[in-house]
Amino acid sequence: MPEIPSFTFSNGYKMPTFGLGTYQSRPGEVEAAVMEAINLGYRHIDTAFFYQNEKEIGQAVQTKIKDGTVKREDLFITTKLWNNFHKESSVVPTCKKSLENLGLSYVDLYLVHWPFAFQEGGDLLPRKENGDLLMSDTDYLETWKGMEECARLGLTRSIGISNFNQDQITRLLSVAEIKPVNNQVEVNVNVNQKPLIEFCKKHNITITGYSPLGQPGNKAGIPTGLDNPVVIELSKKYNKTPAQIILRYVLQQGVAIIPKTVTPSRLKENMNIFDFSLTNEEMASIDKIGTGQRVARFGDARGHKYYPFD
Ligand SMILES: NC(=O)c1ccc[n+]([C@@H]2O[C@H](COP(=O)([O-])OP(=O)(O)OC[C@H]3O[C@@H](n4cnc5c(N)ncnc54)[C@H](OP(=O)(O)O)[C@@H]3O)[C@@H](O)[C@H]2O)c1
Repeated sequence: MPEIPSFTFSNGYKMPTFGLGTYQSRPGEVEAAVMEAINLGYRHIDTAFFYQNEKEIGQAVQTKIKDGTVKREDLFITTKLWNNFHKESSVVPTCKKSLENLGLSYVDLYLVHWPFAFQEGGDLLPRKENGDLLMSDTDYLETWKGMEECARLGLTRSIGISNFNQDQITRLLSVAEIKPVNNQVEVNVNVNQKPLIEFCKKHNITITGYSPLGQPGNKAGIPTGLDNPVVIELSKKYNKTPAQIILRYVLQQGVAIIPKTVTPSRLKENMNIFDFSLTNEEMASIDKIGTGQRVARFGDARGHKYYPFD
């Protein structure tokens, strides 16, 4: 089992720099994947209310605690507040709902999934008749007050953000009583996020890189770099797979990574990246193949005043 390093947050809690992503991990497959991951030594699991798989993930975690493989305190579990629960009064109840789904008394990290809000209510992607999203102008500074309450109540050990840009972080830091310890953003070959990572480091905010493999098979057809000759050459040199080279590249940006898979052989493959490192020249050669294209753009929300990527 590889030794997985951790980041220490500004509040003293630690987060393993490698974990399991679960977006699009469906009921019926995610429970087995999480159990197998824990058997293999994964200790960090990333989910979200939006993924609608918290219950299965919770079942897997309970099984692995009951059979003695791990204790609750060995695990680092992240979930996220969805966009239609951004009003301050909705945040604590929504966090409690996620805890109920997961069968846990606390999560390790609770994140605001996106800086923009949708119309409040049960429909996760509320739309007008013409198909446009029903947005809301609830300010994420209001949402943050609810997040702080979750931390004060002990529903989560730490609170953070996701998909926030530098201006939004600056605005949040100017009022936050409890500081965000983590920003979860897309980091991969195409989007290496060097300026944002540098900025967050200065403010004691760790970064978790999502879609580290560039979401192979993504609907937009954005290339992942997995079949790029530069990556293939490095995979031969280090006797690693192209996916392992890319995961190592993302990790070496100084971020935590949460590749998603439900495939047992890939669960093993993806964590086997802690016994080699890429040189500065090799990192630079991968930088050059990036296209700048994001896989998670949420283009439907473009135009909202808190849309982060303009
Ligand atoms: N905060 C946010 O807004 C946000 C947005 C997106 C993602 N996330 C989080 O980040 C996690 C990871 O991102 P992601 O799921 O978008 O993309 P990803 O991890 O880059 O890619 C996942 C895809 O890669 C395949 N895969 C996994 N290992 C592989 C390997 N070794 N070789 C080839 N293909 C491989 C998986 O297939 P199989 O499962 O079939 O093996 C799956 O189709 C998510 O699951 C989620 O937890 C957060």
